[in-house]
Amino acid sequence: MATWLITGISRGLGLELAKAVLAAGDTVIGTVRGAPPAIPETEGSAAAGRLHVLKADLANEGAAAEVVHRAFALAGRIDVIVNNAGYGLLGAVETSTDDQLRRLFDVDVFAPIRIVRTALPYLRTQGGGHIVTITSIAGRAPSVGSALYAAAKYALEGFSAALALEVAPLGIKMTAVAPGAFRTDFLSDHSVQWSGDADAAYADTIGHSNAVFAGNHGRQAGDPVRAAQVMLAAVRAESPPRQLLLGSDALRRAREKLSATIAEMDVWAAQTRNTDFPGS
Ligand SMILES: NC(=O)c1ccc[n+]([C@@H]2O[C@H](COP(=O)([O-])OP(=O)(O)OC[C@H]3O[C@@H](n4cnc5c(N)ncnc54)[C@H](OP(=O)(O)O)[C@@H]3O)[C@@H](O)[C@H]2O)c1
Repeated sequence: MATWLITGISRGLGLELAKAVLAAGDTVIGTVRGAPPAIPETEGSAAAGRLHVLKADLANEGAAAEVVHRAFALAGRIDVIVNNAGYGLLGAVETSTDDQLRRLFDVDVFAPIRIVRTALPYLRTQGGGHIVTITSIAGRAPSVGSALYAAAKYALEGFSAALALEVAPLGIKMTAVAPGAFRTDFLSDHSVQWSGDADAAYADTIGHSNAVFAGNHGRQAGDPVRAAQVMLAAVRAESPPRQLLLGSDALRRAREKLSATIAEMDVWAAQTRNTDFPGS
């Protein structure tokens, strides 16, 4: 049976994944900032020592590395590491602050990278493992009003894609999971952050997108319980995906983005090639 380290199991996707992993008979070391989550006893998981909760606020610089060291000290071996904890910063770029940006990147980008960096020597020593990073469809096909959040999630997508090549020969698998809109607390006041009020010139763009985001809370098509099952299946697959989309909206947006990218690339292909030295 496998041991998983999952960040952010207090709520949302992380909580549902922790429940699914426990129900499948695996062990979970999960991180929370506050009170431990109310996870129903799954076939004696707590009694059998299959659920461990560690405190970590990933906005703090040392927290990511510390939690990894504590988790390996606890379990000895960790098979799957899931970078799940994160939040959105939505709204206009113009009215965002340095503090907002720094915190977003601390939690959504630097913490996952630090977790992976700290875990890699352990994974190498034990002969392999699987790193799953929850990005977002905003990190592959961003929509208006998500520029800052998209910047963070694109960073993670790039990190995961390139690291996959670096660590594959070491037996370490990488999967970047990009969910569409899922019915978690993500868009609740408890989670999402907004940049400052946008100028009236943005009424049709940011004004509209902010209203749509806020109105979508609790109405998202994505079911976190089903997402957890798909993530579990992906990790257990013989050939796990390096990129996995969750949700029909994510699939549609990714397809549209890829088609538009290829179409534009083709229109400019001759100019693109014209930049090579002649004869090279
Ligand atoms: N739901 C969606 O539509 C959606 C779409 C695309 C991507 N995602 C991504 O999916 C992941 C999970 O989000 P969710 O939808 O499950 O949202 P959620 O319900 O708001 O849960 C967010 C989780 O992240 C934790 N977290 C936030 N800031 C943290 C910090 N500074 N230190 C430690 N933990 C922190 C939260 O812990 P606390 O309870 O302590 O706040 C909570 O466990 C995120 O990376 C998010 O960007 C979600």
